[in-house]
Amino acid sequence: MTLLCAPVKQYQLTEKVELVETPDKTLYQQGRPRYVDVDWKTKTLPAGDIIVSYHNYEETPDLEAVLKMIQDAHPRACLYKIATMARSTLDSLRMLDFLQRHPNIIGLCMGDLGSLTRICAPIFRVPIMYAPLQAEDQNAPGQLLVDQLCGIYHFRSLNPETKIFGLIGDPVARSIGHLFHNEAFRTKKRNAVYVKMAVKPEKLSEFFAYAKKLPFGGLSVTAPLKEAVLPWIDYIDPQAQAIGAVNTLVFREGKIEGYNTDGDAALDVLGNVRGKTIAMLGAGGSSRAIAYTAHQRGARVVIVNRTAAKAKELARLFGCEWSEKLPAYDILVNATSASMPIRAEEIQGGKTVMDIALYETEFLKEAQRKNCRCIDGFPMYFQQALAQQSKF
Ligand code: ATR
Repeated sequence: MTLLCAPVKQYQLTEKVELVETPDKTLYQQGRPRYVDVDWKTKTLPAGDIIVSYHNYEETPDLEAVLKMIQDAHPRACLYKIATMARSTLDSLRMLDFLQRHPNIIGLCMGDLGSLTRICAPIFRVPIMYAPLQAEDQNAPGQLLVDQLCGIYHFRSLNPETKIFGLIGDPVARSIGHLFHNEAFRTKKRNAVYVKMAVKPEKLSEFFAYAKKLPFGGLSVTAPLKEAVLPWIDYIDPQAQAIGAVNTLVFREGKIEGYNTDGDAALDVLGNVRGKTIAMLGAGGSSRAIAYTAHQRGARVVIVNRTAAKAKELARLFGCEWSEKLPAYDILVNATSASMPIRAEEIQGGKTVMDIALYETEFLKEAQRKNCRCIDGFPMYFQQALAQQSKF
């Protein structure tokens, strides 16, 4: 079990926190010093149980070399702590891989990209993790509050058997996946946690190398990776294969399975589309899923995209249509990553207009002004996430 240690300005114990770190770096338990945290460069260690700590606010260097350096400097420390800055999600995964080989080391990455190392600490037998009780007490970049760790990520029930799930894509900040999936795992009493990870397409190879070594159970995939992850999938579901993009990966017995829950989710929200004309804006992973499924369900689908060649290619693959100009339509769907991908005056009044974004786009605001039946990205999000849960 990982003890939570809160830096507080005034000494304070709560039911949630067994250990409290005072500003002078001494850890207290029920009023008595338990450990004393000392920088590794300190020449002579004081008496007591000492945590020898290494901090690097710039980067995450070779962790094995750091551990050797601080162990050589102080061979009789009680615990060793390594806190480094995560410049990317890969730094955090490298830290977790290191902790997997060195249980009982306090290891964490600082910065927003390091949050997953704090959340996953109990899975890697990290003996102490630091989390303040309130925002004013944050004393390192990327620290999550005790309430966030215990409330959203159910930190108290994580253990070495916990499976890691998460979202990959770039950006991931707007996603509500950590709220939805952690709550779903809690309801199902599933020993799993869900974290958000910003990953760029060019880093996928390194990402999957770490993901296969770590206890991953599955992933949600968002833009711009829905097509880019295909080379790493061992089994692809026929519907996802036909769509040519996935939003769900499941890690099972050393293999990666790929599924797509976007298309059915969008069409379940739109209702009966048979015989209707859908103008699809965009030709990325999300558009592929919605266009394919709408076509399968009997809609006339016309794809319109900034890069016309991609629209043309998708139309050829799916047997639907494409156009350079917006056609007359019953339903207009924005599946691009742009807030307003067309000219505002092109939006026709009184139609059904859907935007898959999870924020209020200019596109949907204009549709509202024109008295359209507006559907934002949340209903589709919940549908596809529910379907993901059934795969996870
Ligand atoms: P997703 O996986 O969510 O579909 P994606 O694969 O990154 O995301 O695709 C984004 C789509 O948004 C693409 O069709 C892109 O157009 P291009 O094919 O020309 O790249 C479209 N898009 C992005 N920014 C846009 C903008 N400013 N105006 C219009 N379309 C845009």
